[in-house]
Amino acid sequence: MEKYTPPVNPGRIDDTTAELKVGDSTLQLPTGAGASGEKFIDIRALRRETGYIAYDPGLVNTAIAKSEITFVDGGNGVLLHRGYPIEYLARECVFLEVAYLMILGKLPDDEERQRFSQLMNRNSMIHEDMHTFFRNYPEHAHPMAVLSAMVVSLSSFYPEFEKSEEYEPLDITATRLLSKVRTIAAFSYKKSIGEPFVYPSHRYRYCENFLNMMFASPVNDYVVDPVVERVLNLFLILHADHEQNCSTTVVRTVGSSDANLYASIAAGICALWGPLHGGANQAVIEMLQKIHDDGVPIATVIKDAKSKNSRTRLMGFGHRVYKTYDPRAKIAKETCEQLLAHLGVQDDPLLEIALELEDRALADPYFQDRNLYPNVDYYTGIAYRAIGIPPEMYTVMFAIGRLPGWIAHWLEMKSDSDQRLIRPRQIYTGPESADVASRSAV
Ligand code: SDX
Repeated sequence: MEKYTPPVNPGRIDDTTAELKVGDSTLQLPTGAGASGEKFIDIRALRRETGYIAYDPGLVNTAIAKSEITFVDGGNGVLLHRGYPIEYLARECVFLEVAYLMILGKLPDDEERQRFSQLMNRNSMIHEDMHTFFRNYPEHAHPMAVLSAMVVSLSSFYPEFEKSEEYEPLDITATRLLSKVRTIAAFSYKKSIGEPFVYPSHRYRYCENFLNMMFASPVNDYVVDPVVERVLNLFLILHADHEQNCSTTVVRTVGSSDANLYASIAAGICALWGPLHGGANQAVIEMLQKIHDDGVPIATVIKDAKSKNSRTRLMGFGHRVYKTYDPRAKIAKETCEQLLAHLGVQDDPLLEIALELEDRALADPYFQDRNLYPNVDYYTGIAYRAIGIPPEMYTVMFAIGRLPGWIAHWLEMKSDSDQRLIRPRQIYTGPESADVASRSAV
């Protein structure tokens, strides 16, 4: 039975310390460095030794875990998964191989790939009783709402997963989710357009199966374009993991309470939905479409994005970690242009607008001074649109891609002896006491 072997964290505590003088005490705090040199101060003794807590809204300066899965160097635009550069994985692998790498720590050999693929096929159907859930959603239900609800419902259909003390074979857990999420996503699309579900087939590879479930119908034999299949594999790889981003931190947080994997992933799907995070890919295409339909001058869009008075931001731009071009955005932009050329889409107006907007923003001091560049969400929607995937499905595509990363982090957190229930502190600024006496007189 294949069991997840916990990593031996290389995060070294070195023999130097940071000295903290607070009040009349001086505290020596251990320091260390990660595998790629990023330094940390271990503040686990801070409250016990000084009575002080750290204040860090948004956890901008705080590591909540050590991890071996992904490394991002935001200054230099480097992204590694288990040490492999994203450029290598995007060029040389298919999504299932990268999913295997994330979860099991290595790229699969031929036999492992074969077994993973067979498990994927065996787990691709959802329980027939789940079909009724789709029927009772309104047609305009957002697919992210459906996806999250369906994923958490999986735990009702596979209770054995809840009971097993030992992890069930890891690749069963992972393939069940990776395979069924793809089916749920396609079914939610079919539901939204009032077409019958197309079942998965063991005849197809992972992305081929998804495209067939999305676009085949009783009245047309959809033929998967191998270039589109390749692009889909590549885009899912670009989204596979990204350290402790908002949704991954949510998956870890929910998992830290000992909630099951499906509940943790369902919570991650909801976190990803927000337009500041994974929902940005839908927001980008809506921004570009509005510019096109309303004839909004690019200069106005840039001005509004810079204005402190307006809440509009340049969607698909900026990043908490990358302070240079997101390496995934570079690959997505190039792939998007190649796909449109392959599909014979000449002069896509939204791509033209996106390219001009990028040029103008990158030349503007406001964006330069804040190191704001296109991120992974800026170009992906234009490619999905050319494939025929509607905007409300873009963040679902992000979720399918991110699933291996969420699963890998959940498992890593479960096996990390440093990990505890995630329960941050706060700074209370409310009333010292309420006037109960006057209340009881009422
Ligand atoms: C993803 O974390 C991850 O790894 C996420 C992700 C992943 O793979 O999981 O990479 C996926 O979520 C990518 C990000 C998708 N979101 C968007 O594209 C939405 C637009 N971008 C932003 O809202 C913003 O850039 C964030 C949320 C992504 C990052 O915000 P931060 O790190 O909190 O930065 P900030 O809001 O403090 O911005 C710093 C300054 C501010 O101006 P000042 O107060 O200094 O004057 O930059 C400005 C911001 O107003 N700014 C922008 C901007 N992003 C930041 N101004 C205009 N347009 C923008 N897009």
